[in-house]
Formats: sequence, structure tokens, C-alpha cells
Amino acid sequence: MNSTEGSLSQSGERAFGIYVHVPFCSVRCGYCDFNTYTADELGEGATRASYADTAILEIEQAGRSLPDAPPVQTVFFGGGTPTQLPSDDLVRVLHRVRRTFGLAEDVEVTTEANPDSVTPESLATLREGGFTRISFGVQSAVPHVLATLDRTHDPAGVPQAVRWAREAGFEQLSVDLIYGTPGESMTDWRASVEQAIALEPDHISAYALIVEDGTAFARKVRRGEVLMPDDDETADKYVLADELFSGAGLDWYELSNWARDEAAQCRHNVLYWRSADWWGIGPGAHSHVNGERWWNVKHPAAYAQRLTAGESPRHDGETIDAATARVEQIMLETRLRSGLRLDSLGTTARAAVPGVVARGLADVADDRLVLTRSGRLLADAVVRDLVEQG
Ligand SMILES: C[S@@+](CC[C@H](N)C(=O)[O-])C[C@H]1O[C@@H](n2cnc3c(N)ncnc32)[C@H](O)[C@@H]1O
Ligand code: SF4
Repeated sequence: MNSTEGSLSQSGERAFGIYVHVPFCSVRCGYCDFNTYTADELGEGATRASYADTAILEIEQAGRSLPDAPPVQTVFFGGGTPTQLPSDDLVRVLHRVRRTFGLAEDVEVTTEANPDSVTPESLATLREGGFTRISFGVQSAVPHVLATLDRTHDPAGVPQAVRWAREAGFEQLSVDLIYGTPGESMTDWRASVEQAIALEPDHISAYALIVEDGTAFARKVRRGEVLMPDDDETADKYVLADELFSGAGLDWYELSNWARDEAAQCRHNVLYWRSADWWGIGPGAHSHVNGERWWNVKHPAAYAQRLTAGESPRHDGETIDAATARVEQIMLETRLRSGLRLDSLGTTARAAVPGVVARGLADVADDRLVLTRSGRLLADAVVRDLVEQG
């Protein structure tokens, strides 16, 4: 037993979730630096066919390390593209989570999916197997934007995938969008937002496109082949999305996430943002339990090799000290509509609050600091102010 495992068994009654990383995609989108592999990139030592069994070995290890863990409140299958695996495999992994830890009665079980990676049958198997929520990576409704992002799906297929999901019994359905793609006009973005709303999801995420170092997309930007929009244009797109989403009854609950009501929020992400406990299964997956954070070996072959040899896939980790935890709390809670608890701030960080409020970036209510819309556009600067004074 290593030092982390020694403290894990005391996870007690804190909220506890499981993340399952599925590191496979049919095509790698040029902008994405997630730990994922196409069939050509995977190499030897790991296969898609054996992945569920390998992940199950880690779940069993986790169960031995955390004998007193409470029933799991949220399970999130992310990627990569989880729906690249047969639905039966995903259900088998979920069942092993249930057998190992137990699932809370109202457990939320989400899978991410690309719209062209599902069928009516695969969705029915997931729903019958216990999945309660699906999050489709739609990104844009506009073909030239999808082409710049290397997305494989035909936008005309998205309403069909959503209909299939509803017919399979998924009431909780989310749509992911990206704004700020080179060449995307304001009219393009409005069309994407309006088409997302027309799908009547109960949840939408909209993230600005990030240029990640080392990606094919970053190389194109560096060579001047594509031009990133300026910050003002990206901010205007955020404001447009926020206005249209709230007009359609979807209110923000985190900077980049909107939900129809509290029940429609992604409880798994809320668990991250509240620094609760979760175990991340899979290559490169991060875990956070009882003030310890660790992450697994990155490559699926190394991951499989460790587990089949009966070893932990853990690569490295750290203990989160009180100062780091305080900074992280400021960073995470400031992004939430429920706001940053002021009673948890040091006196010097509190001293920054009146300035933030005077500049119209936040309001204070019930001893919490809540960003205004202008504050949401400058959230990083607000966090910097609070952290530097903290
Ligand atoms: C990693 S993907 C996994 C789910 C699925 N494969 C998909 O693409 O929808 C999750 C989300 O991260 C987004 N994402 C990945 N790289 C990004 C980047 N550089 N900037 C903004 N969003 C990004 C994707 O577009 C997607 O909506
Ligand atoms: S954005 Fe999604 S589909 Fe594209 S490479 Fe990343 S994980 Fe795969």
C-alpha cells in the first residue's frame, strides 16, 4: 500500500464520483490535445476490445483502496469518445462500478458521445444499462466551421441522434458547442446557438476554442494559415450565447455551462468544481481523494501492462496543501453562479472584493461573491486579483 492508499480508506461521507476515461477516437480533431488515440495511433500493447476488462481491473483496485467509500453519486464516461466502444462494454464497466462501490439511488451516469458514433440500438443499450445522461459534441451547426475543427459528423445528423437518444429514454441531454473558430462569423455562431436551442437540450456547454500547444491546429495558427479572432469578438460571442440561452430558459450555473434548472446541472462537473472526491479510471486519468491528487500513466499500452501485472497504474501524485487548496477554491468557486464563499477568504483577499464590486465585475449577496456578466468575461482577472491579495 502506498501513502495515498493509506489515507483513501477514510473517504467517509463526502460526495464521491467516478470518471472513466475512454481514450479512443475515429479521427483526431486538430485542436484537441486530450489523451486519445485513433486506430492508427494506438500501437501495440492495448486494444479497444480489451479496454473494458483493463478498466475493470483498475475499478477493482480502487475498491480495495477505498473499502469505506460511500455509494457513487456520479459516474462520467469521457474521452476520447466513449461511444467508440460497444455499448455492452460501457455497461459492463458501469456494472463493475456498481458491484464495487454501490451506486446512490439517484446516481447520475453520463456518457459523452459524438453525434455520428451512436445508433438507436447503442443508445437503448446504454439507457437500459443504467446511463441517465448523454452529452453530444455538436460544436457548430455550420459546415465550414466543423471542417476547420476536423469534426466528422454531418450537422444534418445531429437532430436525428438527439431524437434517437430521447426515444431510448434519455431525458437528460446536453450539447457541447465551441465558439471562436477561425472563419466563424457572428451569423455562423448565432446559427449554431439557435440550432442547439432548437434541439431542446436541458443543458448546454459552450467553450471558447483554445489553441493547445503541440496540436496540428496550433501549428496552423503559427504558420498563419488560420487567424484566431480577437478577444472582443470572442467576448461578443459569449454575450450573444448567454442572451439567447437565457431567453430560451437555460441559465448559466458555471461560466461555460447553462442548464434548464438545478436538476439539469451536470452533478459530476459540480463535484469537480466543489473539490469533492473522485477516482479517475483509465490512462492519464486524474483522481482527487481526501486532499491527495494523482494521475495514471498516459499511454493505454503502459496502463494495460501495469494492470495486467497486478500493479497500480498510478504515475505520480501530490498532496494538496492548505494554501493550494485555498487558491483552487477561489479559482473554481468564482466561476460558479452560486459564487465564492467570502467567509473562506483570508483578510487580504477580502480586501480585493470592494474593488472588484466597484468595477461592476461582481455583486455580493449572502456573503458570496457572484460575477456579473461583465465579470464573467473577465473572470481570470478577477481570480488573479483575489489570489494575488490572498
Ligand atoms: C475531449 S471531448 C470528448 C467528447 C467527444 N469526443 C467530443 O469531441 O465531443 C470533450 C469536449 O472538449 C472540447 N475540446 C477539446 N479540445 C478543445 C479545445 N482546444 N478548445 C475548446 N474545447 C475543446 C471538445 O470539443 C468537446 O466538446
Ligand atoms: S474533440 Fe473529441 S472527437 Fe475530437 S479528438 Fe478530441 S476527444 Fe476525439
